[in-house]
Amino acid sequence: MSTTRDSVLMPTLGSHYYTDDAVFEAENELIFESQWYYVGRADEIPAPGRFLRRRVGRETVLLVRGRDQVIRGFLNVCRHRGAQLCLTETGDTGKAIRCPYHAWTYGLDGRLITAPNWQAMDSLDRDGYGLHDVHVEQWEGLLWVSLAERPEPLRDQLRPQIEARLADYAKFERYDLGGLKVGGRVEYDVAANWKLIYENFQECYHCGTIHPELVHTIPEFQSPAMGTGGYDPTGYAIAAELDSFSLSGRTVLPTLPHLLPEDDRLYYGMVVRPNCFISLVSDHVIVHRFEPLAPDRTKAVCEWLFPAEVIDSGGYDVSDAIALFGKVNEQDFAAAQWCQPNMSSRAYRDGGVLVPSEQTQIGVFYQWYLASLGEVA
Ligand code: FES
Ligand SMILES: [Fe+2]
Repeated sequence: MSTTRDSVLMPTLGSHYYTDDAVFEAENELIFESQWYYVGRADEIPAPGRFLRRRVGRETVLLVRGRDQVIRGFLNVCRHRGAQLCLTETGDTGKAIRCPYHAWTYGLDGRLITAPNWQAMDSLDRDGYGLHDVHVEQWEGLLWVSLAERPEPLRDQLRPQIEARLADYAKFERYDLGGLKVGGRVEYDVAANWKLIYENFQECYHCGTIHPELVHTIPEFQSPAMGTGGYDPTGYAIAAELDSFSLSGRTVLPTLPHLLPEDDRLYYGMVVRPNCFISLVSDHVIVHRFEPLAPDRTKAVCEWLFPAEVIDSGGYDVSDAIALFGKVNEQDFAAAQWCQPNMSSRAYRDGGVLVPSEQTQIGVFYQWYLASLGEVA
């Protein structure tokens, strides 16, 4: 079998990076369990006792709001004999976290409070049997977890990525993600490696073929040369004849409150590594969260954020805004699923190639990825 390579094309990662269990294991260890990892929104757990359960790499983590309003993270592992403490993705523990198996009971701060037949164990050093805690930080209303022993500050991981995309961090802050509310949420079970989804999001060579609605909305995306040399930090303009970034192009919602006139009618999309995409437009923000589940399977959760007044007033219909990226998601995830089965084909043994307009953004992603795995890019 012969494979041709040309100097104008850049090789993709080798095909085994998309199929191999050992690679996936290394990604879990060196990326998802080592870097700050996006797990959800702080406003999903608004009151003491409310929790989120999330898979982080190969672990399961609980995020619980305490009586002091602090959100803490723990491994979801009972110190008695290892049962999972919380069995659902979200819920309310009440005043304490009670193991469903033998009822060891932990405070919302993770300390062991009591256990059945406590009198027989009165010499027990209960401080030695608290839940294992993990680092939790909040950024723009988004909760991030790190399983590293001594993680770098979350900001140091995220801010350079935003600056690389927008050139100006203040621009990002104007969207005030933490002040927005979820107006729509869709979960996708994508039968594809997470990196296929990320690569796809970082090129628009496919936009003209698979995203008719998106290129109608953002005409620049029609060009197969879009992205050559990197993304434009000044954003991409909504078509002059349309009123909004929505499926019909007609639904007008209130502009996000802190934006400047210069932010109006622009779209920005960015990957925030390791597991978040953020898309900014002037009347809403779209946040994707990814959970790589297996080499060939990724859970994606897409949330559409709007100003609180838009959601709470009941006077606005956000469905048209949601429908546009809803289509884009389905189109993108279908494309990733077209590729995944062939990652193990003999025809793809040496991987594929990136055209010039794909090389800059995906090249940055590959550099980060290979460096994270300790391999030289
Ligand atoms: S495993 Fe949790 S109380 Fe026994
Ligand atoms: Fe796409």
